[in-house]
Parts: sequence; structure tokens; C-alpha cells
Amino acid sequence: MTFPERFSNLPEYAFPRLRRLLDCHGPGGAPIHMTIGEPQHAFPSWVAGLVAEHAHEFGKYPPNEGTPELRTAISDWVARRYRVMLDPDRHITVLNGTREGLFNAALALCPEEKAGKRPVILTPNPFYQVYAVAALAVAADPVYVPATAENGFLPDYAALPADVLDRTAIAYLCSPSNPQGAVASKGYWKDLLRLAEKHDFQVFADECYSEVYRDTPPPGALEAAQEIGADPERVIVFHSLSKRSNLPGLRSGFVAGGPESLRRIKQLRAYAGAPLPLPLQRVAEKVWADETHVKESRALYQRKYTIADEIFSGLPGYHPPQAGFFLWLPVPDGEEAALKAWRFTGVRVLPGAYLSRDVEGGNPGAGYIRVAMVATEQEMRHGLTRLRDCLYG
Ligand SMILES: Cc1ncc(COP(=O)(O)O)c(C=O)c1O
Repeated sequence: MTFPERFSNLPEYAFPRLRRLLDCHGPGGAPIHMTIGEPQHAFPSWVAGLVAEHAHEFGKYPPNEGTPELRTAISDWVARRYRVMLDPDRHITVLNGTREGLFNAALALCPEEKAGKRPVILTPNPFYQVYAVAALAVAADPVYVPATAENGFLPDYAALPADVLDRTAIAYLCSPSNPQGAVASKGYWKDLLRLAEKHDFQVFADECYSEVYRDTPPPGALEAAQEIGADPERVIVFHSLSKRSNLPGLRSGFVAGGPESLRRIKQLRAYAGAPLPLPLQRVAEKVWADETHVKESRALYQRKYTIADEIFSGLPGYHPPQAGFFLWLPVPDGEEAALKAWRFTGVRVLPGAYLSRDVEGGNPGAGYIRVAMVATEQEMRHGLTRLRDCLYG
């Protein structure tokens, strides 16, 4: 039997790797899970009733690109949020959560060659791991660009050599970023779009944390593109109900961008896509139209930022997250810190190196742990206090 080589060098996925690190040791206290970015706030109470109301539609094949009503609800949301007008038929398609979209859009859009060579796909480092797998799947060379405290936790793509940028087909950028909670300003987006124009690549904007923020809504890539009159094909944005609406299990998101890119994404999905079941599309339509639950959930996160700031404000190197629901805490060694926290306090956190790659001998995540602020306020306060006393006491 012959198996492909292309994924053979992938590191073990973060969560099995974490289990291997921690599970041979007992917890040093009642376990508190702060590893996975799975929202725990309530989703709207009317969701279950709507699923039941539309249950008979499980008997139908759902439209791949999403119902017209759902795509219209999404374009209305984009218009309210970013003041950008999208045509629901030409600029949007529905996703089964952003993860598959971030992967499949690369299959649909990455050319076989760029500047006469293998294409390059840029990803921040650390990063959401699907970007690297997408690059390998399309036989592109992933280039991991450090997103560290020195550059405000956003990669400096413009500093890459011109020959790398000329070979670049796609640059992923996550804002608000997982894991650091950094927000790309409109200026950052505009500079990136100008760089993309100059070197003829596309920007894949992963904005699935856009609605979880302190006080100012993070600017989006679409509005930056509109303001500078960028080629509409330059930017592809990805959004999700997983974090916005605490519905990670609904598997509902969307991708939006230029009409030619969307035509290609939709064509691939027509052959190989896994569309969202129709009753769930009906639910998603109503969820995008409602902001009340989003505001309530955001208010809870805002209280969590305050708690985290109180607990860690004196810690050298503490960067309060601007958005998202992760803390990215500096430690001498992330794996040792995660093990120590588990063994002495029962708090489970993720070593930063599990989200980043070694580049030229260094790993920009090695000196960090990622802490998800998804538990209840009381549990979170308890967990963060134990962490502080154990790791920084
Ligand atoms: C940065 C980032 N992008 C995308 C996703 C995928 O989310 P979903 O597929 O639930 O929309 C996640 C989930 O944790 C994430 O952290």
C-alpha cells in the first residue's frame, strides 16, 4: 500500500499531544479546563425550537451555497457591521464552519505555480493550524512568519524577501488573532492589501473572533479593501457563528469576496462540498439577524478581560488581549509550565509551541501558554488565580 507523503511531517495535533503530556500525571486540584477555544456562554434559547420547526427539511438535500435567505441575512449583517454592500448571489457562500472554508478556499484558489515556481502560502506563526495543512494540500510552500510581541503579534509580511512575496499566492491573516488576541488596524489591512496588489497574491482574512472584543469593534478586511478601492478579488473573508453566537456545534460560517473567487469556491463545493443541513441553515439565518445575544455574550467576555487584567496586570510581559477569548501568557517554557500548572493546580492550559512552528531554530510560541477564557466567571477567576500563584508566585 502506498500512502501520500505530503502530510507525513505534520506534527501531532495540539490536543492529543497535550493529553500525552498531561494525562500520565494526576491533577493537583479539581480540574479546570482552559485549553480548547470552545465557547461556553449560552446560545440563543430559541435555536432548539427553530431546529424542531424545520426538522422536516432534513429530508431534503440542502443548497451547497446556502439558501438565498441565509445569504441575504449574511450580506445584511456585513452591511451593518462593516458598511460594505455584498451581493448575496455573487459575493457570499455558506460554510460548514470556517475551518473547512479556510482549507477548501486554498484548494479552489491557489495556482499550481507562481512566478514560475511552487507557490508560497504565508501564515502567521503561531497560527490556527488549518492554514499549514491547506498549504501542504495544494503543494505550496508554507512560510511561517513570526507574530511576536515585538511586532504587536501581527506578522510583518512586508519584510519578507521580494522573491518570496512574488511566489506568494495566499497570505492568511487572523484578526482578532488566535492565540494572542491582537487586532489588525485598518492601516495594517490596507498595507497588507497594497502588498498583495504589488506582488499579486490574495489575502485570506480569518475574522471568526470579530465579535468578541473589549470596546471597539475590530476593523475588517472588507472595509479596508473598500476604502482603498482594492481589486475585489484581493481579499477573501471568513466568518463564523461559532464564537459570535456560541454555536460551535452548528458548524455555520461563511466566506465572502470577489465574484471570480467565489465562483471558483462554489464550483469546487458543487462537486465536493459538504453543505450545511437545511434546518441548520434556517437557524443560521435567524442567528445572523440577531445582535441581542451577541451583545450579552460580549458583555460576559468584557468582564472576563477585567478579571484577567486584575490578576495578571503586574506580570512582566503580560499583553492584555485586545479581543478574542485567549490569554497568551509568557513563561520560560510553555510545556514545562503547562505540566506544572496541571500537576500542582489542576488547571489545564496549552503550551504555545503546539500552535507554532520552529523556524530557523526558534519557535515563537515556545515561551508562552494559551489560556482560554471560556469557563464561567467564577471558575475562570479561580483558575487564573491558581495559575498566577503557581507559575508566577
Ligand atoms: C483562528 C480560528 N479560525 C477558525 C476557527 C474555526 O472555527 P469554526 O470552524 O468553528 O468556524 C477557529 C476555531 O477555533 C479559530 O480559532
